[in-house]
Amino acid sequence: MTESNRHFCDQVQSQILGIHPYIPGKPVSELQRELGLTYISKLASNENPLGSSPKAIVAIQNTLKDISRYPDGSAFELKSYLASFLGVKPTQIAIGNGSNELLELVARVFAGRGDEIIYSQYAFAVYPISAQVVGATGIEVPAVDWGHDLTAMLAAITDKTKLIYIANPNNPTGTLFSRSQWEAFISQVPKEVVVVLDEAYLEYAKSFDADHDYPDGCDYLQDYPNLLVSRTFSKAYGLASLRVGYLLGCDEIIQYINQLRAPFNVNQLAQVAACSALSDQAFVAESVLLNQQGMRQLIEGLEALSVPYISSAGNFMCIDLGNAALDINQKLLAEGVIVRPLANYGMASFLRVSIGKQVENQHFMDALKTVLSK
Ligand SMILES: Cc1ncc(COP(=O)(O)O)c(C=O)c1O
Repeated sequence: MTESNRHFCDQVQSQILGIHPYIPGKPVSELQRELGLTYISKLASNENPLGSSPKAIVAIQNTLKDISRYPDGSAFELKSYLASFLGVKPTQIAIGNGSNELLELVARVFAGRGDEIIYSQYAFAVYPISAQVVGATGIEVPAVDWGHDLTAMLAAITDKTKLIYIANPNNPTGTLFSRSQWEAFISQVPKEVVVVLDEAYLEYAKSFDADHDYPDGCDYLQDYPNLLVSRTFSKAYGLASLRVGYLLGCDEIIQYINQLRAPFNVNQLAQVAACSALSDQAFVAESVLLNQQGMRQLIEGLEALSVPYISSAGNFMCIDLGNAALDINQKLLAEGVIVRPLANYGMASFLRVSIGKQVENQHFMDALKTVLSK
């Protein structure tokens, strides 16, 4: 920091100083620049390897001529589509610049200095960041078997607790809790504490749920006005780059979120693409099927190599490589495979691998085999 910049840098809000920024997956272009590789498989950001629905791409093409106009700030059409798809009222939906924006907005609506926000150990990095941004105290509850310990999270509630973030399945661990665990939890949360149930990977979780034991957050909105459900178009819907997510809840909370968000937070290309993607459930079905096949492929490959992993209900999985994880990550990069190291999650011995297309999964398995045999 230069002396002349110190004047305003000293004015930065104290809670901002300690924020560890979110670490995204390494972009393909960066690895290309660094190592001059041409054949790269990016399995680092839980994106949809099939791309996007062709209907969404046509909708974007048809809207390109209008990009000199501001988007519909109320996202009327997208909310109408979502409302009829989900069986809720449009007034129960807020649209965000990715669900990430909405997760942060909830913290801004409900928490500030002196308040507590609860989340699990190994939970999505945006939860502690959201707590820090508003100056609240983040309460990290130890995980059990890499997943949320809902009983311990209930026990962590105090009269300072304003918000609880829960992901089902969780990222990065992919762990899931059952309907009965969820119902026991939500029914005991005090009515004044807001619960955000993050269902970013809902479509994948449902595809693995042969026993119909997945608690779909939508089914609980009526009984629990303190419940918010967040979802995204970034994963199974394949629109990660456009940044569209949504939050479901009671009219009053959604109204506060809408008061706080920027007037044109979601651009028009994103809105029309999301409407078309929603109408293309065949693409979503194809995406989750590919994911199931890819998950099986990776499990078989890892078991053949005797590499331990955490069972996942998402489109990714964590593999345990012990002390060698970071070194193996570097060597995988040299083989053209980008995965995600998890040291910033306190899981230094793990790498998270997103499920890709068959050839990408094979690229990863071949590279891992090569690296482990050296
Ligand atoms: C659990 C979880 N929630 C939310 C998000 C945010 O997704 P987006 O902002 O793209 O909607 C992610 C992204 O990886 C995630 O893993």
